[in-house]
Amino acid sequence: MKRFVLFIAAALLVCFAATAQKTEAMKGKTLVVYFSATGNTERVAKLISTATQADLYKIQPAKAYTSADLDWHNKSSRSSVEMNDAKARPELDGSVPNWADYTTIYLGYPIWWDQAPRIINSFIESQDFAGKTVIPFATSGGSSISHSVQELKKTYPSIHWQQGKLLNGATPSDISNWIQK
Ligand SMILES: Cc1cc2nc3c(=O)[nH]c(=O)nc-3n(C[C@H](O)[C@H](O)[C@H](O)COP(=O)(O)O)c2cc1C
Repeated sequence: MKRFVLFIAAALLVCFAATAQKTEAMKGKTLVVYFSATGNTERVAKLISTATQADLYKIQPAKAYTSADLDWHNKSSRSSVEMNDAKARPELDGSVPNWADYTTIYLGYPIWWDQAPRIINSFIESQDFAGKTVIPFATSGGSSISHSVQELKKTYPSIHWQQGKLLNGATPSDISNWIQK
């Protein structure tokens, strides 16, 4: 009798482990993908990736932004020209390996002109977001993330967006408080 009970318990355990593994596989993986021109968003992206045990991918422009490109006081700088043109799509260098494996995407960027940089549009348009949940995050010099998220939602209404979060100066504990919500 004791042996029988042990056998049933072992069988149940194997079944439970197999189901848990399957559920995990179906849930898919998490990816933290970000663009960062001067390192602030990158720092936060790395904290999120550590806290969520997610893979990390940096969106790279085919042509790196120089500090002259980033000069928002100059109307002719590359960033000003791009942000002035809603249709600008800076060319990307590379793409995410195994994109299909991910179902949760943390998408990070610096706020430029109260919006997401145009390279974020390039990235979104280069991938299939069907079946994925996207959680935006950003860093800024003070602006909120709201307008940028509003614009992204308006431009890509078929994507399943979750509420975004501005993470200026975020600490590891700020990040873990946020991701548990
Ligand atoms: C071209 C450009 C435009 C910017 N526009 C804004 C803005 O509208 N509001 C704001 O608060 N910060 C603005 N900033 C500041 C950045 O959002 C901020 O420094 C951010 O943390 C940079 O992130 P990164 O280091 O990951 O590139 C701008 C910076 C650049 C280069």
